[in-house]
Amino acid sequence: MSEFQQVSGGYPELFPQIKALVEGETDLVANLANVAAALHSTFPFLWTGFYLVKENELVLGPFQGPVACSRIALGHGVCGTAWKEARTIVVPDVEKFPDHIACSSLSRSEIVIPIKVGSAVVAVLDVDSENLEAFNENDAKWLEAICEVLAEHWR
Ligand code: SME
Repeated sequence: MSEFQQVSGGYPELFPQIKALVEGETDLVANLANVAAALHSTFPFLWTGFYLVKENELVLGPFQGPVACSRIALGHGVCGTAWKEARTIVVPDVEKFPDHIACSSLSRSEIVIPIKVGSAVVAVLDVDSENLEAFNENDAKWLEAICEVLAEHWR
């Protein structure tokens, strides 16, 4: 595996490096931890990390940023809704998402992408920002592509 080069650009430069990282390592936790770190150190996100589906709950996985809620129920918060509905959710203003779970009072906007293996959601990628409307269709497209790479190597 080649060394991870910190990139100054955005997703187009980061994506092949993340792909190479994930393809070069078989351990799931190592890959989730490195993907969280790669994203978090490239962009000015508040919180970047994973929740894993375990016994019908989301349980906190590898992440970068402030301490977060350990468990989220199906259908609760942005994460639990993205899991239940198996779709990406972009929240431009967390105060306007009725069931948002405020792990940090600094979070103003959020995007959550489900990781699907076959038809089952096995985890979600959650990214939070201190800025309103920080995430758009472009973030959704690239973060979904990253989640697909992780899904292809899920074990
Ligand atoms: N805000 C999320 C909870 C997770 S933290 O933001 C890290 C939610 O509403 O599901």
